[in-house]
Amino acid sequence: MTEDDATVILPAVSDGALHDRPLKDGALDDDTAVFARVVDAEPAPAAHTLIELDGVGMTYAGPPPVEALKPVQLHVENGEYVAIVGPSGSGKSTLLNLLGLLDVPTAGTYWFDGYDTSKMKESKRTQLRADKIGFIFQSFHLMAHRTATENVAMSLVYQGIPRRKRRQIAREKLDLVGLSHRLDALPTTLSGGERQRVAIARALAAEPSLLLCDEPTGNLDSKTADAILATLDELHGQGLTILMITHDHDVAERAGRAVTIRDGQLREGNHLHDDHHDGGSDDRVPTDRPDPGTLIMPVAGEAPTAVQPAAAPRRN
Ligand SMILES: Nc1ncnc2c1ncn2[C@@H]1O[C@H](COP(=O)(O)OP(=O)(O)O)[C@@H](O)[C@H]1O
Ligand SMILES: [Mg+2]
Repeated sequence: MTEDDATVILPAVSDGALHDRPLKDGALDDDTAVFARVVDAEPAPAAHTLIELDGVGMTYAGPPPVEALKPVQLHVENGEYVAIVGPSGSGKSTLLNLLGLLDVPTAGTYWFDGYDTSKMKESKRTQLRADKIGFIFQSFHLMAHRTATENVAMSLVYQGIPRRKRRQIAREKLDLVGLSHRLDALPTTLSGGERQRVAIARALAAEPSLLLCDEPTGNLDSKTADAILATLDELHGQGLTILMITHDHDVAERAGRAVTIRDGQLREGNHLHDDHHDGGSDDRVPTDRPDPGTLIMPVAGEAPTAVQPAAAPRRN
């Protein structure tokens, strides 16, 4: 995906991968509720648990079929910060797509925020995702021809929030990530770190319960990456649950907990650099590199941006 793709992460379930879809022109000017709220039922009581994977597995149909995720157990409490580490091809994206309700497991039960998502209709899963899950990616996925404010505001179109309110929320979230001075800037005029801040603001717009991050610092120089990680630390400190895919040992160390994925199997702890003489796993498999198609943007000398105090994320 390139910076020129005028795309936005939309609540759309696709064929197994994370897909962006262009937003219709004029959607930002539409004041009407696009989606009705479909998640009305009270969730089952599970106050402390945000994520519960019970025997969740994923086999891509193929041919040939690929068992990308073996049936796994995973329990994540509200407020945890979990790093998922694993070599390339180990199933990280598969897991992230499942956790983010972008894909449906072929085995097991995924409880999210008290809801059995495996039994949900697609429309309900879509709305649950829009309400409760924010995403940030290595390559930012911003719309090149929209301002920072518009990029953030657009993510709320599907929440049925009126235009004026969307823009107000967008400004608040951009302020939160230290970008109040760049509200009208186009992504092309922003540094890599600033672009990722816009993406974080967008992810936070709907007050999610969960922030899913896929190598969010993979395209940033170390100083800028540190500043972004400090922002995530701050958000976690305010109570946001964060799940981050990373192959960077230092990044993983910042999270309170690490889970290793290897050959589609989960293991508690950071075992990325362990010697493996136990199951024939190949430890020489290279760790993830940035996608060949992604724009690498080391931003030399960018000073860390001060992080504004974050408002406590809403729990709903
Ligand atoms: N849509 C798909 N169809 C078939 N196989 C897939 C698909 N997506 C991923 N895979 C395979 O599943 C395994 C795990 O992939 P992935 O989750 O992308 O790993 P990672 O993100 O850790 O690199 C790999 O063997 C990959 O080739
Ligand atoms: Mg991947």
